[in-house]
Amino acid sequence: MKLDALIIGSGISGLTLAYILGKSGQRVCVVTKEDRIEKCNTYFAQGGIVFKGINDSPELLVKDIVKAGGKLVNKKVARVIASKGHEVVNKLLIEEIGVAFNKKGKAFSLTKEGAHSIPRILYKNDYTGKEIELKLIEKVKSLKNVKILTNCMAIDLITNTHHSKNPEERYKKKEIWGVYAYFTKEKKVEAVFAENTILATGGVGYLFKHTTNPDSATGDGIAMAIRAGCEVINSEFIQFHPTTLYLPYSNERFLISESVRGEGAEIVNKDGEAILKKYHPLGSLAPRDIVSRAIFDYLTKTKEPCVYLDLTKVKEKYNLKERFPQIYRKCIEKNIDIENNPIPVIPAAHYFCGGIKARLNGETGIKRLFAIGECACTGLHGANRLASTSLLEGLVMAYLCGEYLKRKREKLSEKRIKQIPEWIEPEGEIADPVLIEGDIENIRNLMWNYAGIIRSTKRLKRLETELLFLYNTVENFYKENKLSKRLIELRNMITVSRVITKQALRNKESQGCHYITSEREEL
Ligand code: SIN
Repeated sequence: MKLDALIIGSGISGLTLAYILGKSGQRVCVVTKEDRIEKCNTYFAQGGIVFKGINDSPELLVKDIVKAGGKLVNKKVARVIASKGHEVVNKLLIEEIGVAFNKKGKAFSLTKEGAHSIPRILYKNDYTGKEIELKLIEKVKSLKNVKILTNCMAIDLITNTHHSKNPEERYKKKEIWGVYAYFTKEKKVEAVFAENTILATGGVGYLFKHTTNPDSATGDGIAMAIRAGCEVINSEFIQFHPTTLYLPYSNERFLISESVRGEGAEIVNKDGEAILKKYHPLGSLAPRDIVSRAIFDYLTKTKEPCVYLDLTKVKEKYNLKERFPQIYRKCIEKNIDIENNPIPVIPAAHYFCGGIKARLNGETGIKRLFAIGECACTGLHGANRLASTSLLEGLVMAYLCGEYLKRKREKLSEKRIKQIPEWIEPEGEIADPVLIEGDIENIRNLMWNYAGIIRSTKRLKRLETELLFLYNTVENFYKENKLSKRLIELRNMITVSRVITKQALRNKESQGCHYITSEREEL
């Protein structure tokens, strides 16, 4: 199979790019390892996408992005997103794709979230991501020259310098020519070649025991990029969302959107007392890193299992069942009636502020390889992302990448591709699923405990040692056993966890979501 563009990942960035390139006539293939196209972080996004508030300006949005993300924010990138974002949302997402955000009369309804100065976020009740994802799927499916392959998992990027049988290639500039992909149903590996390969593989939330992300968020694109020699930066900045549904004796975490607080909910203790003002003047709507850490601190000191979201003020404005239908339903399912009771909440891993170093148009340091959306790091989020900027960044990056790839075509010759060997399957057995699941659970526990909301050098060093042991074990396992989707994921999880740990250990300064303390200080 040889394509113009191979897009790995089917969230907002992957599908938007597929739509733009497909419409321009390019032969595009979107692959996802899942059996359903929509199983990705975009689908689960609740809150919304940054638009434009009343009396808003790009300068004010940049100020808020910096208020949340600190000095590490790439201000040049923030200015482009802040000045272009509104137009791309309007023209592409609303007018062309047909996403139907909530309206009051003719005007769009706007909500607020943590660290935003004003309401400026578009939303569709509490299932904004689902609305965007389903509309995008419909559009992309209507294009004949775009193929969507489910159950197809990229294993590794094909590089001329490493994979080609032609020895001359190793002295040339490194290029990416596609991927080796594992077809999970057929259980076979094939090389898929493309003029350009785009990673749109999302984040890493599943590396942590408690997360808002689906189990597909195993950092696959980031791991492949690391193995191909790409630069990955800012990995220590894992954003923990302050409010996910707390269910005793369960690892399951369900996002309780920040827009609930944006509409007036307060974080309170079991006695109904607001607890955040003590930590930050913005109280429950302080930047996410501060709120998560404050909750963590409060729970450590009081030994209570969770805090609560008091919805009294939200109820004065809305019918909860209509404004937050998913949250309402989920809570009812768990015997929590949010009309009459506060919601028990606790933080969980949510978003990767780091990633593959990329320009806003997705260009990486390697020829023919692009990274867009959560797996990429443009510096927009600095050390802590401002709420509802992730869908916006994914959309704008896809748009700029699409415009760039429509202009810049460079043929990939058949002769060169012919020098890429077929995948050689190891002779061994199917990898033992009990061992794989055990190792995955191990990593998720280790990452949660030692690279979580509060870190220390000692914990990170312990983590580094444990991960090295797991890495050596799993690399051997990988070489000796037949492939499975979970084995590929496990290998990727270890690769990315090690980079997060290494970068967290190297950064001695607490900034945004990376908070490092001495164990004694914490006691
Ligand atoms: C939320 O709804 O709270 C999540 C929004 C985001 O992560 O930007």
